[in-house]
Amino acid sequence: MKAKFESLSAHLLHLKISLGLVVLGALLPGVLQAGLPDKVVADFEGPDYGEWKVTGDAFGDGPAAGALPGQMAVEGFLGKGLVNSFHGGDQGTGTLTSPAFKLERKFIQFLIGGGKFAGQTCINLLVDGKVVRTATGPNDQPGGSERLDWQSWEVEEFLGKPAVIQIVDRATGGWGHINVDQITQTDRKRSEAQVDARRDFVIAKRYLHLPIRNGATKRHVTVFVSGKELEKDEMELADGAPDWWAFLDVSRWQGQTVTLQVDRLPGESTALSAIEQSDTIPDAAGLYHEALRGQFHFSSRRGWNNDPNGLVYFGGEYHLFYQHNPFGWDWGNMHWGHAVSGDMVHWRELGDVLAPDALGPMFSGSAVVDRGNTSGLATAGKDPLVLIYTAAGNPSVQCLAASTDARVFTKYAGNPVLPQITGGNRDPKVFWHAPTHKWVMVLYVELNKVHTIHFFSSINLKEWKYMSRVEGFFECPDFFELPVRGGGEDGKSRWVLTAASSEYEVGQFDGRTFTPETGKLPGHRGKGFYAAQTFSDIPPADGRRVQIGWLQTATRGMSFNQSMTIPLELQLAGKPEGPRLTWTPVKELAALRAKTHRLEPLTLAVEGTNPLRGVRAELMELRAEFMPGEAETVFNVRGATIVYDGKKQELSVNGHRVPAGLRDGRQRLTIYCDRTALEVFANDGLTYVPMPYNAPVEEREVGVKVTGGSVQFSVLEVHELKSAWGKE
Ligand code: FRU
Repeated sequence: MKAKFESLSAHLLHLKISLGLVVLGALLPGVLQAGLPDKVVADFEGPDYGEWKVTGDAFGDGPAAGALPGQMAVEGFLGKGLVNSFHGGDQGTGTLTSPAFKLERKFIQFLIGGGKFAGQTCINLLVDGKVVRTATGPNDQPGGSERLDWQSWEVEEFLGKPAVIQIVDRATGGWGHINVDQITQTDRKRSEAQVDARRDFVIAKRYLHLPIRNGATKRHVTVFVSGKELEKDEMELADGAPDWWAFLDVSRWQGQTVTLQVDRLPGESTALSAIEQSDTIPDAAGLYHEALRGQFHFSSRRGWNNDPNGLVYFGGEYHLFYQHNPFGWDWGNMHWGHAVSGDMVHWRELGDVLAPDALGPMFSGSAVVDRGNTSGLATAGKDPLVLIYTAAGNPSVQCLAASTDARVFTKYAGNPVLPQITGGNRDPKVFWHAPTHKWVMVLYVELNKVHTIHFFSSINLKEWKYMSRVEGFFECPDFFELPVRGGGEDGKSRWVLTAASSEYEVGQFDGRTFTPETGKLPGHRGKGFYAAQTFSDIPPADGRRVQIGWLQTATRGMSFNQSMTIPLELQLAGKPEGPRLTWTPVKELAALRAKTHRLEPLTLAVEGTNPLRGVRAELMELRAEFMPGEAETVFNVRGATIVYDGKKQELSVNGHRVPAGLRDGRQRLTIYCDRTALEVFANDGLTYVPMPYNAPVEEREVGVKVTGGSVQFSVLEVHELKSAWGKE
């Protein structure tokens, strides 16, 4: 569901290019002034380019209906068609040239998007064969936006002369294409676009409130503090009324001047003037009570989150860093957000710790406590907490940032510490390998079109040596050792290699090479779970391996988007077929129990009345232990249906069926229900089914019934849960 992977727009082509068609000026956006009606030079609504001449391969045979294969969603054009030189991707080149037409108005205006390369990706006005005006799209960096924006040329000096418009694509690298639409002659001047518009704020409060409109053109915003460039952001700034307000924490810069510089804004945009200083975040009173806010699943106060990053126990706190877009509702503009907790259940969100810089956006990575200061990044004699992350520019490189107080993080001056292996390599997960006394990094690398995980080693986190690699895992690797519990191998240990999909392999690791002993095994069995990571440095006395995943909950209409799973304890269970991973909710979640409904052991028959009748809850944990026999045991939790089919030994969550075996004929089922998700655990944790689910607000009931036999329950209990927010 990730917005990163945009689909093609499905517009149809019809109508044809209209040369000289007169359109009422009032139909066009812009500031109206007196003058003759507008004349459309071309609206690119036809099946082909009509009398325009095409050279090269970039422009195809006619207008595009939106995005072309491999392109992000193209927006902001008028009607059904536009000029799009992304045919064949960025590699394609060519020109598109209009027939001569007479200049009869004071301005030519047009919609333009794509690359920002003068002379390479541009639209030119030629008079007497010479280029007299030129313009480009807005993008020259990775990320960016395929939205078209208005630009105009003042052409009064050429009135009455014949002119030609030429659209050019000579660029073949990133953003090597140009998009154009709705070229119009007009007497009504649009307000001038504001280029590199700046606003200074002398900081007297904690936050700047920023107006955001979902889907608006992504503006490049540079943040300066006392004149020094601090970060480079992309923001979907609202030019008028915002959908929601984001915030930038400026508390560190009291009394100093913070300057926001926006690469380009439409003339009439109020984006900069609308920004206000405040001591509270926008809509602070409603924070964490929003309709679709998970009440015990972490989500960020504002903006988008995806992967958990840098999960670590340090200084008596659990730290959850995460992929964060603080200034947009969708993926992009990656920062590392940061939250802390004493129990992994109640989180307190702090500000972002890593913001995009000249090396690129801050992609996923991990954190370690550098005991003994092998990196030399300690200050004040304390062991540093070191973040290892991907700066996903071009090239894509691995970097460090360190802190001794886990509040202020300093990027290492010698970054990057690992140069690009191949484009898109990313997501370093680092751990200390005690037997060989060195750091080990697992990194996702695409090699000759094959997804691989590379293993590197280091003695100081700064210099890394290649050791080995395995194939078959994509993004966000994790690698850890676990004791086998039960079965013939009880007490022995094994290594688990896993990655974003949560599939895994079990095997041996000698400090250099991972030798799998299994094929790829399925991980979670649900939906919308991705890019999980396990905590580093949980004290050995505790010894648990705890994982949190990205849970792709649906939060449309909110000022935040997505969330995390509950914390999950991972174990390796010894099974006849070999060691297998189990997922169990951490015991700390019991702190959320507000009221318990516990039934005596009972047998439920077909047509029996619902033994949980009268129990109502918004947030709940249901636990059941039962002998299903051949029957179907049907749980109803806030409108969701969870069925255990004893005959097929299958669990179904809202119709999504997965295998779930029995132990001694008995099923142990745990269901967590929050506002936007279910997490279901069966078969002693071998079957874990996370499932985004927006529970209808008015549905509060819980029930159980059986069909096809009778079912004996030894445990049947419902815990009404409290919200985890605000009590850290
Ligand atoms: C996984 C992922 C990572 C990357 C991050 C960027 O969801 O694609 O590979 O580092 O998201 O946000």
